[in-house]
Amino acid sequence: MIRVAHQFRDPRQQFAAAKLGMWLFLATEVLFFGGLFCLYAVFRSNHPEIFSYGSRFLDTTWGGINTVVLITSSFMMAMAVRCAQLGRKKELVVFLSLTLLCCVDFLGIKAIEYSHKFHDNLVWGTQFYEDPHPGQWQPTLVGAAAVQPITVLMPPDPEQGRMLYRSSCAGCHGLTGEGFPGSGKPLGTSGFIRDLDDNRLLRFINVGRPANDPLNTTGVMMPPKGGRPGLEDQEIRHIIAYIRDLQTQAGQAPGDPASGARPAVAQVPGIAIMPFSEGPKGLADTYFELDTGKVDPIDKPVLDPRHDPDRPENAHLFFGVYFLLTGMHGAHVIIGMGVITWLLIGAARGKYGRNNFTPVDMVGLYWHLVDLIWIFLFPLLYLI
Ligand code: HEC
Repeated sequence: MIRVAHQFRDPRQQFAAAKLGMWLFLATEVLFFGGLFCLYAVFRSNHPEIFSYGSRFLDTTWGGINTVVLITSSFMMAMAVRCAQLGRKKELVVFLSLTLLCCVDFLGIKAIEYSHKFHDNLVWGTQFYEDPHPGQWQPTLVGAAAVQPITVLMPPDPEQGRMLYRSSCAGCHGLTGEGFPGSGKPLGTSGFIRDLDDNRLLRFINVGRPANDPLNTTGVMMPPKGGRPGLEDQEIRHIIAYIRDLQTQAGQAPGDPASGARPAVAQVPGIAIMPFSEGPKGLADTYFELDTGKVDPIDKPVLDPRHDPDRPENAHLFFGVYFLLTGMHGAHVIIGMGVITWLLIGAARGKYGRNNFTPVDMVGLYWHLVDLIWIFLFPLLYLI
């Protein structure tokens, strides 16, 4: 039978007091994690590029499994509370054990993830910038390129490129790359293009150059893929081959870019198609950001930040946030394991029953909060 402490009138009041205290404690927990989430929000809105870059290094499969594991554990805990309330002592032991098993799974998976990160120096401090395995780095192909060797692809064909260029790029850059002031730069004479190899040029065309980019020279936006999201990398490679041809032609007729085979019609400003793809700014910028965040299988074989020329500045900050948030959450899981073990010992001795289930109920509440926090952490860190 339950013991009522002397300050309480009856067990009911004692239970109500315990519950109030627990909710108060949970409120402080929410405040604590709320602060951490604010930190996340500020960092992410100031440096979105760091987050879209860093989250590539997290394993969504492990993270997803852990999400399922935690949701299952919450269910087991809820069942345990119910068994305690109904006085089913044996089942209580079973469900508490299952909850504990889920905790162990969760921490095991977390340990795998953390050890990979430490092994590869994907950490919060300056160590991030040290090559973890000097001299051993090999570019490994990821994504589609890993399955399908690049050699299978067709060699870039300037003739196909010319057709694609006409439909996708000529509206702004002119039929033969001579450019239109205010809508697209000359491509034939561009030193920027000459200095880039094909892979980097492919990447540039995929990403474009927003009007507010410091490298933008005209104040007009070059949309990602020229505003044709459907263009495949291989098609862009054809276009690049064509642009290389244009450059050769322009090189042969120096000082007179308007001469030769260039059709005069393209020089008439009135013919210029308006920048059809610029669209509402908000949309275009979102697309731009999404596009830079993705791992381009051909041009982006590098998954070691030490060898990645496109690594954003201060990329290690992502791992600072990651370890802070998941570490704090992990500490709560460990504490949860402690109290669940304590419950389990009590339950095995038959301590909890219809009249005495307060501790099980309270630990249950705590455990649901821990679970809930992970439900937020998973998308915020892994799925961005
Ligand atoms: C909506 C108009 C528009 C379309 C369509 C367009 N571009 Fe551009 N592009 C621009 C603008 C504007 C710039 C110049 C940006 C700047 O000021 O730096 C530019 C710049 C470039 C540059 C860099 C040139 C340099 O010297 O800095 C390349 C390369 C390029 N575009 C390739 C392409 C390709 C390839 C296509 C077709 C797939 C294409 N563009 C379609 C507007 C367009």
